[in-house]
Amino acid sequence: MNWLNEGEPEDRLLQQELLSGGELPKHIAIIMDGNGRWAKQRRMPRIEGHRSGVGSVKDIVKACGQLGVSYLTLYAFSTENWKRPKTEVTLLMDLLLYYLKTELKELNENNVRLNAIGQLNALPKNVARQLHESIDYLSDNTGLTLTLALSYSGRWDILRAVQTLALDVRRGTLSPEDITEEKFRSYLNTHDIPDPDLMIRTSGEMRLSNFLLWEMAYAEIYIAPVFWPEFRREQLYEGLWNYLGRERRFGKISEQLLDETGCER
Ligand code: FPP
Repeated sequence: MNWLNEGEPEDRLLQQELLSGGELPKHIAIIMDGNGRWAKQRRMPRIEGHRSGVGSVKDIVKACGQLGVSYLTLYAFSTENWKRPKTEVTLLMDLLLYYLKTELKELNENNVRLNAIGQLNALPKNVARQLHESIDYLSDNTGLTLTLALSYSGRWDILRAVQTLALDVRRGTLSPEDITEEKFRSYLNTHDIPDPDLMIRTSGEMRLSNFLLWEMAYAEIYIAPVFWPEFRREQLYEGLWNYLGRERRFGKISEQLLDETGCER
């Protein structure tokens, strides 16, 4: 099923308006938060929140694909999430496995490349195997790069990078004076994807929760008031309009940006 031939006419119009509204973010990173609270509000078990959250994942991936967003990174399971009750962890892993198996064909038909960051060898064997198989299967695609952060935390990645870098210094293959920002970046799990332009967090919480700490240096942050299962394409569009209204100065002043672009922003 090709996503570009699909969709309600009203939705296509909304996407057209967004596309002509300015430069959309190349990389969107999302902290999917509030599945448990969404379920609790409805007196349902927490896992129902996660299950409904998979619906949001599908809709957001599809909308990003249709809009031509290049990179989407989803914080699906943090290092800290291993501390949750075993039953919830197992069910989350099952949901991930289900997603990877059932969406593979559609992701491929829509030119999506899959990527994963985090301590992947900590995942259950069947999940890790399916993940690697899916990544391989989709590796020649050139459209949206969907990155799943799994057993991931920003500090874990920074520490791991520092350890590898220190080993290279000890081996003599790297001099301390050559450790630039670019060099350091090349040691991170995210070395082959650009920094996020926009970070979205759902459920109204204003925390980074150990997500992409190095990479988020200049990301615009958008906090959506709804729980993740309620975050569908309409809510994404709101976040994108909000982003389009921002002035990204990267530490400079407005007048300098005007000089560089030659037009008002
Ligand atoms: C946060 O809600 C959500 C998670 C920890 C897991 C997110 C997982 C999914 C949406 C499903 C599987 C993922 C993919 C990519 C198919 P929470 O449980 O912390 O909610 P709460 O703060 O309300 O308790």
